[in-house]
Amino acid sequence: MAGKLVIGNWKMNGRRVASETLVAAMLADPRINRPNVGMAPPAPYLALLAGWLEGSHVAVCAQDASRFAKDGAFTGDVSAAMLADIGCQYVLVGHSERRQYHGESNEVLRAKLANVLEAGLVPVLCVGETLTEREEGRHRDVIRHQLSVLEGVDPRRCVVAYEPVWAIGTGKVASLEQIAQMHADIKSWCLQIQKTDVTIRTLYGGSVKADNAEAILSIDDVDGALVGGASLEVESFAMICMAA
Ligand code: G3P
Repeated sequence: MAGKLVIGNWKMNGRRVASETLVAAMLADPRINRPNVGMAPPAPYLALLAGWLEGSHVAVCAQDASRFAKDGAFTGDVSAAMLADIGCQYVLVGHSERRQYHGESNEVLRAKLANVLEAGLVPVLCVGETLTEREEGRHRDVIRHQLSVLEGVDPRRCVVAYEPVWAIGTGKVASLEQIAQMHADIKSWCLQIQKTDVTIRTLYGGSVKADNAEAILSIDDVDGALVGGASLEVESFAMICMAA
């Protein structure tokens, strides 16, 4: 199963010196320094990370991009074109924390996706249901609706990350059956939404750790992992990358 994609989402963590030390230790580990591994630091460190990763196999990934395409009066925003300019390859779009704390709607996410694609980068569209939505049996409708922003997008140019909100940072992992079922559903919904016969790549995220990575990444329909907390520690991240 070598070669599944693993992206470490640092979220709003780290400082310059500590992150540089962490990245140096990670790059020295061949389990991490290999193709199909990416790191997503907070925005101020993206250009620095691009420098630290130069000559390595690891890709630079951003946690977000502006919904505005052109340079202009958009204080605080970072455009997809700027991310491309500093060597970014992947951009997370619609992470549940962005949906929750910044009210990102499907309309906003459609614009972000278009900008990321236009800049030649790979969007990683994050989808996931809350605990209430799952308990009420609405999870499939919720995910199907979140995926609708992929209409018209070439599946070869994007990735979907399924992250059940109730499993993020909680230590609660979805069961292997729940993960397998949702990934199969996402792939088949995307065939309809994108009107294609090309199957989209899907990552799983939500409390992926060294001790559960192998089981999760062994699921056929899981093409990789989006890792939060465990991506901030060398041995944990190395074990996850190795399982991929
Ligand atoms: O994007 C990664 C994510 O939200 C999962 O975080 O800490 O549960 O691995 P964590």
